[in-house]
Amino acid sequence: MDYPISSDGLPARDSGEWAREKLWYVERYIGIFNQGMKKHWADRAYVDLMAGPGRCIVSQTGAEFPGSAVLALQSKVPFTQAILIEQDPVPYAALSVRCNAPDLKPTPTLLQADCNSPEAVRLIRERVRPESTLAFCFVDLLGFDVAFETITAITATRRIDLVITIRFATRKTRRFIGRSSPRNTPAEATTGRRSALLTTTGRATCSEAGGTSVHRRPSSTALALLRLSG
Ligand SMILES: C[S@@+](CC[C@H](N)C(=O)[O-])C[C@H]1O[C@@H](n2cnc3c(N)ncnc32)[C@H](O)[C@@H]1O
Repeated sequence: MDYPISSDGLPARDSGEWAREKLWYVERYIGIFNQGMKKHWADRAYVDLMAGPGRCIVSQTGAEFPGSAVLALQSKVPFTQAILIEQDPVPYAALSVRCNAPDLKPTPTLLQADCNSPEAVRLIRERVRPESTLAFCFVDLLGFDVAFETITAITATRRIDLVITIRFATRKTRRFIGRSSPRNTPAEATTGRRSALLTTTGRATCSEAGGTSVHRRPSSTALALLRLSG
């Protein structure tokens, strides 16, 4: 994959305006999470399974904006720990430089690995302690790069809010999600299917109180917020 060079001289992710919109929601959820939970959880962890290089560029316009990992480290009320995983060496190297800037908090733990690997799962579970840590995990799916078994393994007996992006634009995604009736919107279909997927593992169940929601925008990306009982 080719990475354009951004104004800071490092490779960035070639993105579209939809990415900015997606990150708008992620940034706001991060703010709500840290502000709302700071009195309840002294240890709040940010986990990014597919962190990217930390900066995005819209190639048509040249517009630049921070990626999810940098946004997380800019949170006004900071996380107390951050675990950033990226498998590709080019974005990983750029991420390492950007995320160690002195104005960002906390200093993250970086891992260059497949997020489905036992090493990645072990690291996350070691750092997200069942008794003392509340975590926010962002899964910016490109396609089906993260196995549901990985999500199950990471979240079992841990308290983790998940935000997962799902792209509707690809034929593979549409086939995967399916539609139980022609009247179903993709969001409704996704909610049902995803809940089913998570519950059939027997490990993670969506909370009774409507803990699953999918926000569907006119663009081709949806964000699913899942709160799983640990
Ligand atoms: C959609 S981008 C992430 C963008 C990032 N969230 C942002 O806001 O800038 C997905 C990233 O995940 C990486 N990736 C793909 N499959 C992966 C895997 N199995 N484990 C870890 N990283 C992966 C890709 O190299 C890419 O940089």
